[in-house]
Amino acid sequence: MGIIFRQPAMAKCRPSQKWPIPDWTPESTKWQAVGIDLCPPMLLSAAKLATGKDSYVLADVQDMRFLRDGAFDLAVSYLNQCDLPDFEANSREVFRVLKPGGRFIIANLHPMRSAVGGWLKAEDGAKLHVILDRYFDEGGRRWKMLGVDFTNFHRTLSTYIRAYRQAGFAIEEIIEPTPEAGDLERFPELDDELRVPNFMIVVLGKPAIAILD
Ligand SMILES: C[S@@+](CC[C@H](N)C(=O)[O-])C[C@H]1O[C@@H](n2cnc3c(N)ncnc32)[C@H](O)[C@@H]1O
Repeated sequence: MGIIFRQPAMAKCRPSQKWPIPDWTPESTKWQAVGIDLCPPMLLSAAKLATGKDSYVLADVQDMRFLRDGAFDLAVSYLNQCDLPDFEANSREVFRVLKPGGRFIIANLHPMRSAVGGWLKAEDGAKLHVILDRYFDEGGRRWKMLGVDFTNFHRTLSTYIRAYRQAGFAIEEIIEPTPEAGDLERFPELDDELRVPNFMIVVLGKPAIAILD
């Protein structure tokens, strides 16, 4: 639901917009959480929910050199890696800024749904089944939502998992979320979430002790 709520903000993203880079110094301890995005309206929306212990930075998550090594206990990537041309660089950067024993939780489009194809529908609009094709053909996929053009990047499940391990992470869990009891009464449009995996959550751990090959 959050994505739908925030789409108007995404539609207004313009690379020329300016956003002050806050004073995030290695010594700074005033923030407990840092939110990073390349889109100023997204940061403004997030900043409205700020608690005072968080701050927001306009930056590319593929290059976070303004954050020092080993500074964070937890990193969360919410529907962002599918937008990145170089998700491997983002994974390496997150590994760098996490403390040993830290966790990286990634919610992403499920690779089966980022490949290609929507629902094949009957004449009355009923969803018959999802079309899955070009799964092993990795790369950009252009699509439209609410009249806005987007480019996402499709990778296979094995490409994601290999890159996380190469970055140094241990795979702790892979979750394919589905609606829970009571959700469908509130959000009947989520019924297809019980038929196909739309999203996946990967829980990664930075080993407390470096493992040498
Ligand atoms: C599908 S939206 C999800 C936004 C947000 N995480 C949320 O929960 O609503 C993907 C976000 O990734 C951001 N993004 C895309 N490429 C980025 C990059 N290289 N660095 C930082 N953010 C990026 C976009 O600006 C957009 O806000």
